[in-house]
Amino acid sequence: GYGMLLFLFLPCLCSGQAVPLLLRFSSFLDPSNMVYLRWDHDEQEMITFELRVRTPGWVAFGFSPHGELSGSDIVIGGVFPNGSIYFSDCHLVDEATLDEDESQDYQLLSLTQNETFTTMMFKRHLCTCDLNDLDITMDTARLITAFGTDDTVQFSKGQKFSKSLFLMKYRGSSDSTDPKIFFTYDLRLDNFAVPAEETKYACTFIPLPMVKQKHHIYKFEPVLTPHNTTLVHHILVYACGSDSVLPSGIDDCYGADPDFALCSQVLVGWAVGGESYQFPDETALSIGTPLDPQYVRLEIHYSNFDLLPGLIDSSGVRIYYTSELRKYDVGVLQTGIFTFPVHFIPPGAESYRSYGLCNTSQFDEVNGIPVPELHAFAYLLHTHLSGRGVRVAQYRSGEQLGIICEDKKYDFTLQEVRDLKKILTIKPGDEILVECSFQTLDRSGITFSGLSTMNEMCLAFLFYYPRNNISSCTSYPDILYIAHMLKQEASDTVEGMMAMDFIDWDNETIKSAEKAAKEANQVVVIKTINVTSTLSSDNKKGKIPFSIPLSENFPALRLDFLQNDMFCIQAERKGTRKDVKLALYPRI
Ligand SMILES: *[C@@H]1O[C@H](CO)[C@@H](O)[C@H](O)[C@H]1NC(C)=O
Ligand SMILES: *[C@@H]1O[C@H](CO)[C@@H](O)[C@H](O)[C@H]1NC(C)=O
Ligand SMILES: *[C@@H]1O[C@H](CO)[C@@H](O)[C@H](O)[C@H]1NC(C)=O
Ligand SMILES: *[C@@H]1O[C@H](CO)[C@@H](O)[C@H](O)[C@H]1NC(C)=O
Ligand SMILES: *[C@@H]1O[C@H](CO)[C@@H](O)[C@H](O)[C@H]1NC(C)=O
Ligand SMILES: *[C@@H]1O[C@H](CO)[C@@H](O)[C@H](O)[C@H]1NC(C)=O
Ligand SMILES: *[C@@H]1O[C@H](CO)[C@@H](O)[C@H](O)[C@H]1NC(C)=O
Repeated sequence: GYGMLLFLFLPCLCSGQAVPLLLRFSSFLDPSNMVYLRWDHDEQEMITFELRVRTPGWVAFGFSPHGELSGSDIVIGGVFPNGSIYFSDCHLVDEATLDEDESQDYQLLSLTQNETFTTMMFKRHLCTCDLNDLDITMDTARLITAFGTDDTVQFSKGQKFSKSLFLMKYRGSSDSTDPKIFFTYDLRLDNFAVPAEETKYACTFIPLPMVKQKHHIYKFEPVLTPHNTTLVHHILVYACGSDSVLPSGIDDCYGADPDFALCSQVLVGWAVGGESYQFPDETALSIGTPLDPQYVRLEIHYSNFDLLPGLIDSSGVRIYYTSELRKYDVGVLQTGIFTFPVHFIPPGAESYRSYGLCNTSQFDEVNGIPVPELHAFAYLLHTHLSGRGVRVAQYRSGEQLGIICEDKKYDFTLQEVRDLKKILTIKPGDEILVECSFQTLDRSGITFSGLSTMNEMCLAFLFYYPRNNISSCTSYPDILYIAHMLKQEASDTVEGMMAMDFIDWDNETIKSAEKAAKEANQVVVIKTINVTSTLSSDNKKGKIPFSIPLSENFPALRLDFLQNDMFCIQAERKGTRKDVKLALYPRI
């Protein structure tokens, strides 16, 4: 049943609290734009939220482990008709049982209400040390919001929404400078008849602006045809190489005609609720020179959940470009696993990890002239439907320098460009390792790497400057070694791939396949921006021993300073977490 809450009746704690003047980030959290969230985080690892809901009743906001209600960390508040306020840090034991946390780690900053809106502003530490609170990390957050029409908090009766959102952004639109003179140009579908299907991936090829001299694209912004329901789920824009022969019209991106999946160099990704993306001030994307892309592939993912017939849509992306050139051209380096069926994921896997290696030691040779250091500033991670996590690590001289980026809660429907906290230098000779984890419990057949959404990919796009000629640096494992380790006969690559279909997949063979694919020699494929076909003969190949583990099973120790002179030590080992709260000793 529904547990009665002992709400804290609070005098407003707003006094004396330093509230950031500007919350840089915002998003609607429901399809009808009734729940609006603004937020920001600071160097002290505090995150401030302002939740505005179109209701005079109770409002709730929180974090879910995977999007479901059970196990969620929830903060609830509201204003009674007599003006008293209530506010509490709670958790949902199951869908119907809401319990108040013993440790109240959300701090109320203000709570107001008028006839239309209830607005609640509060803050918390990214990590609170309370096991009933979920940490706010660099992973995609699964947010839960709920509200009711009056002040009787009843979760089961309220309206509830769940949404994936990335909270740890580092730059807002106010952190960027716009040029004085700029032009806009829309990459849009032209009156596309959205089918009455739950999911549709529509693709089309569109020329970039024809400019006689070099210009810079510095910003992308979604342009959505208004409908009375959220139809566009996400949009991706890919650059095409100059030698591509592209089809015309609009078609399924991953359907019968494989040409509609051509061009795999992501330029920008945008998902429902997201905002525009602007490059850092010193960098932008070049157009108008022979090295630049002339066409893009626009991919729009429609979710017509109500199967509404007769909808016409012309959504897309608006680009902003200028002749006021910035210092650097942006390049995008595709890393991860070469998209080819020697990469496969067995069925019935709870968690299956695959690895792709980029060895940059051949960059100079492939590029034509020496490649300067790459200054990476942003990333976009990409897998298909069974991807659950992606992480990217950097190695130099056999040593792991660190994790470049990761998302342990990857959500296919939230592919977006995310900024790195700091600009990261990749030196020629460094290795970039991409690890993807997949879940295939719902699949009965093997999943091969490929372009269709039911196939898989494991890619990390790194945005960097100054641009070089290399577009992709990925690898694939020696399938014969994998087949041999799984006791299969095979004498060439095709036989090796086919042999995987004969294996009786259980958790033991799954583990053996994962291990064999990790130990196998890797073929590193480096492609330049002009090479578009996947199996071009001028790929630089070379079998490269691959024996670099990610420092994964080592215990991670973290120290968080908390309010009230406490600090928290978290030790993590193989998934189990121990939190210890200790009194803070006088500083030495
Ligand atoms: C305001 O209303 C609530 C709910 O009816 C009640 O619990 C609370 O005591 C009231 N506060 C004041 C100051 O009257
Ligand atoms: C109610 O509050 C919201 C948010 O603070 C504000 O935008 C709106 O104008 C207010 N409406 C009225 C009628 O005061
Ligand atoms: C949305 O618009 C369509 C027509 O475009 C209409 O048939 C439908 O009833 C509308 N739905 C709502 C919820 O307003
Ligand atoms: C790209 O390759 C061309 C031809 O090999 C070369 O002239 C040019 O300098 C290269 N550009 C960069 C940025 O490395
Ligand atoms: C592997 O184990 C999980 C539970 O740990 C189970 O759900 C899954 O079905 C097993 N996979 C296979 C292929 O037997
Ligand atoms: C790519 O093609 C263009 C036009 O054909 C050419 O000018 C450029 O040098 C090529 N770049 C590389 C790296 O080969
Ligand atoms: C990368 O290539 C260099 C030169 O061929 C080689 O020495 C190094 O071992 C390779 N790195 C890995 C991880 O295989």
